[in-house]
Amino acid sequence: MKRLLITVDGPSGAGKTTVSRLLAQRLGYRYIDTGALYRGVALAASRKKWAADDDSKLADICSKLTFEFRESPNGQRLYMNGIDITEQIRTPEISMLASDISARRCVRQFLLKVQKKMAKDGAVVVEGRDIGTVVFPNADMKFYLDADHDTRVLRRYKELAARMGRTHIRLDEVAKAVTERDERDSSRSLAPLKPARDAIRIDSTLMEIEEVVDLMHRYIAGIVK
Ligand code: DC
Repeated sequence: MKRLLITVDGPSGAGKTTVSRLLAQRLGYRYIDTGALYRGVALAASRKKWAADDDSKLADICSKLTFEFRESPNGQRLYMNGIDITEQIRTPEISMLASDISARRCVRQFLLKVQKKMAKDGAVVVEGRDIGTVVFPNADMKFYLDADHDTRVLRRYKELAARMGRTHIRLDEVAKAVTERDERDSSRSLAPLKPARDAIRIDSTLMEIEEVVDLMHRYIAGIVK
């Protein structure tokens, strides 16, 4: 059977990560979370305490980074230069810094190569913001997953509260961060978040995760018949 390259783009909190992971599992495909790569670069930059718009320093940081996704009994882990950074990249600070550095050309160019290499053999579900528009414009199947703003805020809140504890997270702050990040990710001049013209658009606001995965799976079954 053809080894498809499937893309899932959309704003934060739309459910991309969970859905993409489950879809990949169901197809026996690999799953690539490209946001995690931007978060990895942000983590490396934050350790150096350099300004997020210093391109020569960012380019220097990128030139020294390697990334690898590895499967483990408790899900996929991301290794940067051989070290597991899966947990460290999930803080609100790294989320915001990742959004900042993702607007820089040197970072996007570096990660474009990384992503292309990771997905070169197909049989993969790749999740992000510009995967169907810029990284893999010729993907076999493209999805754009969205949900209304309040739903996305609530999902993000629950995710952070589960990880960091409810006392450390405030709903109004999460709402502000989601709005700010959406605005930045969609308005930047390089590879902004937007649906590819040939993407199948799915609004997950009133859908359960399994329903979304089923729907995607039906679309995919239609092209591999
Ligand atoms: O999906 P995420 O929240 O982990 O992504 C973190 C940031 O990385 C997001 O705010 C924008 C950026 N990003 C991007 O610009 N392009 C991608 N393909 C994936 C993420």
